[in-house]
Amino acid sequence: MTPYRVRVARGEQGIRTGAQTFTVTLEDRMTVLDALFQIQRQHDPGFTFRCACRVGMCGTCATSINGLPRLACKTRPSQLGGGEFTVEPLPNLPVIKDVAVSMEPFFEQWKRVTPGFRPKNPQSRELALIPAESQYQCETADKRDCITCGACYGACGVKSTSGEYLGPAAINRAFLRMIDPRDQAVGERRAVIDNERTGVWRCHTQYNCSAVCPKGITLTDTIQWLKRATMRRAPFQKQS
Ligand code: SF4
Ligand code: FES
Repeated sequence: MTPYRVRVARGEQGIRTGAQTFTVTLEDRMTVLDALFQIQRQHDPGFTFRCACRVGMCGTCATSINGLPRLACKTRPSQLGGGEFTVEPLPNLPVIKDVAVSMEPFFEQWKRVTPGFRPKNPQSRELALIPAESQYQCETADKRDCITCGACYGACGVKSTSGEYLGPAAINRAFLRMIDPRDQAVGERRAVIDNERTGVWRCHTQYNCSAVCPKGITLTDTIQWLKRATMRRAPFQKQS
């Protein structure tokens, strides 16, 4: 068991009021999320954070750990180096309390890209299969696992100065739907992403989003792909 000093942000009713340091004792395999639970159970029952699955699947525990957005349940203090670490709310999102943020602005942008599947033939009873060697399968293989954690949104330097920007995750979602040959809402999404102020042209190619994504999604590359495709005015979808 190793003792750690954990500095956590504190806030009430959406206003950050400061920070507080607690001492916790953790085994090597324990995570930052375990440290947050220990603070809540042993020091302050009112300390607030978000989590659900505890195994890196739901995305709700994303926080800023030592200044970088990460999943608390997948980050081990033993790998952070040193006997202390800091946990703060994700940047670019409003604080509800302590290190818990509201994801509402993230999902407002997500909704703007028509994230749901819009089938070309909703009455069809046939299975719409996509071949393994198709453009969709090849281009999207490493981009489909988003867990809507908001880490990329918190890391984005452009998002910090532009509330209207869609953000990397919403753009990646648009990309997945736009090159899906079964989907019919390409035009609607193109109109949203092809915008200098709020769409792909707002990205400054900083790669912060790609660097923090816990699922390894190459978000900046997605944005660059969409910029090129939009410039060419070529059809996004290929049937094979
Ligand atoms: S793209 Fe990655 S960092 Fe962004 S919300 Fe999805 S899983 Fe999280
Ligand atoms: S609690 Fe679900 S990803 Fe961490």
